[in-house]
Amino acid sequence: MTTPLIAGNWKMNGMLRSLTELKGIADAVKDGRTEGCEIVICPPATMLSASRGILHNVAKVGGQDCHSEAKGAHTGDIAAEMLKDVGASFVIVGHSERRADHAESDEIVKAKVNAAWRAGLVPILCIGETQGERDEGKTLDRLGEQLAGCVPSGARGDRLVVAYEPIWAIGTGRTPSSGEVAEAHAFIRKTLTDRFGRETGEAIRLLYGGSVNPGNALELLHIDNVDGALVGGASLKAADFIAICEHAA
Ligand code: G3P
Repeated sequence: MTTPLIAGNWKMNGMLRSLTELKGIADAVKDGRTEGCEIVICPPATMLSASRGILHNVAKVGGQDCHSEAKGAHTGDIAAEMLKDVGASFVIVGHSERRADHAESDEIVKAKVNAAWRAGLVPILCIGETQGERDEGKTLDRLGEQLAGCVPSGARGDRLVVAYEPIWAIGTGRTPSSGEVAEAHAFIRKTLTDRFGRETGEAIRLLYGGSVNPGNALELLHIDNVDGALVGGASLKAADFIAICEHAA
């Protein structure tokens, strides 16, 4: 039985004063409200260390991106090893906002997955189609391409998480139908199982991301092959985030 994972991606939101929200999350976890659910918060890198201090032993923290190399002349970048050094356990890679803002190709994302593994982090690999690709009936082709291009050999169930994030559903309040989520997740599961074998393919957790909120989480989290959620906007408020975790627990 897979432990559900709820990950909060704060994106470029949050200042040190937002740590009070983390205290709210820590208190709810301590009260047993999220039992049976693994939680990770990915705040801006500037807040990682302080976040780790607050969530220590209660929930994990993760980075939102990493460079593919371990160190060197890459001004402004952060190595996976540096995230590990401040207590991160996870790192998001290949988010569509990174792919768009920083022209990250599947090849670059694959190198980042390898970097995460090198540093002992679990990558949360994001894949998903644009509205145009969905309209043209190319969703599964796109997901297949991204899985082939971004997942290196050597995947294991305990060291890879895949997040299906339809780009058109991110921050829009729109979500795919349950049937559409089920179809995408079944395809991702089958692709991973075909490539890595049944045991590994079934152990890799598949998250749904895109406008998850306390009102739709119950339905989304109970779709076949959905092992958790990657939550953006609704992870910024402790009450909303915990309500989502409660639906997964
Ligand atoms: O990584 C999470 C994300 O892209 C979804 O964002 O705000 O639609 O939940 P949001």
